[in-house]
Amino acid sequence: MSIDIQNVHKSFGNFVALEDISLTVPTGKLTTLLGPSGCGKTTLLRIIAGLEYADSGRILFDGVDVTDTPVQKRQIGFMFQHYALFRHKTIAENIAFGLKLLPKDRRPSNTDIKKRVDYLLELVQLPTLTNAYPHQLSGGQRQRIALARALAVEPKLLLLDEPFGALDAKVRKELRTWLKNIHHELGVTSIMVTHDQEEARDVSDEIVVMNHGSVEQIGTPEELINNPSSEFVADFLDLV
Ligand SMILES: Nc1ncnc2c1ncn2[C@@H]1O[C@H](COP(=O)(O)OP(=O)(O)OP(=O)(O)O)[C@@H](O)[C@H]1O
Ligand SMILES: [Mg+2]
Repeated sequence: MSIDIQNVHKSFGNFVALEDISLTVPTGKLTTLLGPSGCGKTTLLRIIAGLEYADSGRILFDGVDVTDTPVQKRQIGFMFQHYALFRHKTIAENIAFGLKLLPKDRRPSNTDIKKRVDYLLELVQLPTLTNAYPHQLSGGQRQRIALARALAVEPKLLLLDEPFGALDAKVRKELRTWLKNIHHELGVTSIMVTHDQEEARDVSDEIVVMNHGSVEQIGTPEELINNPSSEFVADFLDLV
């Protein structure tokens, strides 16, 4: 699924959080929103998700205007830094949660739910944790389960907001590589928020550099490194 963001504007009171944002997220690619704290990354991601509404501008999924479509109808998987797992549910129950909420005509049978959970546990390389509880897992393992949960409903779009932000540097790096591999395997259109330029350079097909609610530059990591369009971009990518 491709995403078109057209002239999106968002203010909170007098504060302009997003100013005339336009960009296209290509089908099947991993695009990151990169920029300093407060530049509007999460706000933009929430508007794409339908968790927040823009003051003006349009959002299109595969050319269809979803600007006024509620979040439940957008077929999106989410993963956030502090999107905690349900403490009193097993790992399998956590992953199956979204599947059990699907409307009757789209809900898989219990046997198929179990198959899907097993497949996802294999995919995130934690096949033995089916009956474990979240407190028995490391932070990195929990984020992998959170990704399995986000993927359970076969989303057409995966949104990741600083998914590894709370983890230490070594685990972050491992999970980055892992995420990249999973993304290549599944080919689901994905948008990830980060303020870490190294992380963005490492995982992205495309990077959207944001500053003060505006897009500074969009390009592949190579394009940005070879041709930063402003001092801000060069500075933020540590090129100076
Ligand atoms: N609900 C809200 N009410 C008022 N101001 C808000 C609200 N949500 C966000 N803002 C403001 O909008 C700006 C952008 O916030 P946003 O969370 O999108 O930034 P961010 O780029 O994700 O930053 P970070 O890297 O710190 O997560 C910030 O100045 C923030 O204080
Ligand atoms: Mg944020």
